[in-house]
Amino acid sequence: MTKIISDVSRTFSEYLLLPRLTKKEHTVANVSLTTPISRFEKGEVPRLSLNIPFVSASMQSVSGTKMAIALSRRGGLAFIYTSQPIEEQAAMVGKVKRYKAGFVPSDSNVKPSTPISEAISLSRQTGHSTIAVTEDGQPNGKFLGILTDKDYWEFEDDLSRPVADFMTPADRVIYGETGISLHDANLLLYQNKKECLPILEKNGNLHSLVFKKDYVDHRNNPDELTDDRKRLVVAAAINTHDYKMRVPALVEAGADVLSIDASDGYTEYQKECSLWIREKYGDAVVLGGGNVVSGDGFRYLAEEAQVDFVKVGIGGGSICITREQKGIGRGQASALMDVVEERNRYFEETGIYVPVCSDGGLANDTQIIIALAMGADFVMMGRYFAMTDESPTPKVSMNGRIYKPYWGEGSNRARNWQRYNNAGEDYLKFEEGVDAYVPMVGSVNDVLAVTLAKLKSTLCNNGAVTLKAFAENAMLTRISEQSFVEGGTSTVTTIDNEQK
Ligand code: IMP
Repeated sequence: MTKIISDVSRTFSEYLLLPRLTKKEHTVANVSLTTPISRFEKGEVPRLSLNIPFVSASMQSVSGTKMAIALSRRGGLAFIYTSQPIEEQAAMVGKVKRYKAGFVPSDSNVKPSTPISEAISLSRQTGHSTIAVTEDGQPNGKFLGILTDKDYWEFEDDLSRPVADFMTPADRVIYGETGISLHDANLLLYQNKKECLPILEKNGNLHSLVFKKDYVDHRNNPDELTDDRKRLVVAAAINTHDYKMRVPALVEAGADVLSIDASDGYTEYQKECSLWIREKYGDAVVLGGGNVVSGDGFRYLAEEAQVDFVKVGIGGGSICITREQKGIGRGQASALMDVVEERNRYFEETGIYVPVCSDGGLANDTQIIIALAMGADFVMMGRYFAMTDESPTPKVSMNGRIYKPYWGEGSNRARNWQRYNNAGEDYLKFEEGVDAYVPMVGSVNDVLAVTLAKLKSTLCNNGAVTLKAFAENAMLTRISEQSFVEGGTSTVTTIDNEQK
C-alpha cells in the first residue's frame, strides 16, 4: 500500500540556529573547515579531505577547467561535467592536472613581425600583459623575447611597427631551463627582481612561464588541495552508461575523485558501476554516488555500492524542474536530515563513516550554514559558482547589468551533446532543467571570502572550531512565516545604492 511520510518536506530557510556557549578559544583564527570526502574507519584518517566544505556542480555551465583550478587552489573541488565526449572531459582533467601552479604554458604568443597593435588586442583578449615572442608565434616555438605592457605606449607609439622593435630580446632575458625546481625558479625571480621567468628547453624553445604573482598567490592559498606529486587534486563526474570507457580515460588523465551523476541514484546501475570501479581501481580513486533523498537510499549506496560519499538532493536545484515534471523529490532539509541520521547510525553500527554532500537548492550563505549545521560534510552548488568569473560561460550584458548563462544538465541545451552519439535520434522527451541567466558577482575567491567569513563566525557563535563540533553542537529552531518576515528588514525603508 502507498506509504505517506508523516513529516512534511522542509527546506533550509525554515530553520534558524540558536547560539551555543562561545568560549574564549572559539575564535575565527582557530576555525578549521577541513572535512572528509572519502569513507574511513573509526580512528583512521580519511584518504582525502577538503579544506573548505564546498564543491561545484558537475554542470556544463559551471565546472570547466578554470573553475577546477580556482576551487582546488582554494581547498574545494569542481566536478568537471560528464555531459561531453569522453576525450574532451579527459583533456579537461589533464589540463588541470598539468596546471602545476608555477609552470604555466604561455597563452599569449606572437611572432617578432606581428604589429604591436595585434599584440595589444591579444593582451586584451587573454587579460595577460606578458606576451612571449617566439619564431612561429606558438607557445612552444623558438623563444625570441618577451613583451610586456611596460614596453610600449599605446597612445604615443606607432602601432603598426613590429613587436621586434619593442620586446626585450632573448639575449637580455633572465630565463630558467626545464628541470629547474619551482623553488629555484622563484629564487631567480626574487634575485633579479623580475615579474616573469621564461623556462626554456635545451634547444631554446619556450616551455612555460613562471610568474611572481603566482608565487604570491600560492603563498596566499595555504588551503590548496594537492596530490602526493604536488599537482592539483581533480574531480570529475561520470555516468552509468559509458563508465567502462569513461572511467579509464579519466583516471589515466589524472582524476582523483569521481562522482556518479544522476538525479536519482538509488539504483542497481549505480551499484554495478561503483563495484566495477572498486574492482578495477580499489581505493585509488575516491568515488561518490547519488543523488538520494532518504536514509534507505544512503544505506544502499554506502553498504551495497561501497561508495566513498553520498550526494543528497532531488528537485531542489535552482534550475531544476524535476519535481514538477516527474513528481519526485523532497524538501532539501528533510532529505538531508534523514540521510545524516542514517549516516550516523551506519557509523555506530559498522565504525565506517561515509561523508554526505548536500547538493542543490542553496540560495544564500545562510542556507549553506544551515546545511552544514544539519550535518552535511560538504555542499555542492551550481548557481553560486555559475555566477563567478571562473564559470565557463561568456558574460552577457542585459539592461545595463552583466549576467552569465546558467542551464540545467537536464535541459535540452545540456543534453544536446548526446545527439551526435545518438545518430540524430531525438530521445529527449521532456526536460528536467531550465535555461537561465544569473547575475555576475566577481571571482570565486571574492565570493568564497565572504561566505567563509560568515561560516567561521557562525561556528564561533555555536561554540565550535570544527565542522564536526558545529554539527554536534547545533541547536536549530523551526521558524514561523511571521518570524521569516521579521528576519529581513521589515519595518524600515532601506536605502538602495542608487539613492545613496
Ligand atoms: P543549485 O546549486 O541550486 O543551482 O543546484 C545545482 C544542482 O542541481 C546540481 O548539482 C544538480 O544536482 C542539480 N541539477 C543540475 N541540472 C539539473 C537539471 O537540469 N534538473 C534538475 N536538477 C539539476
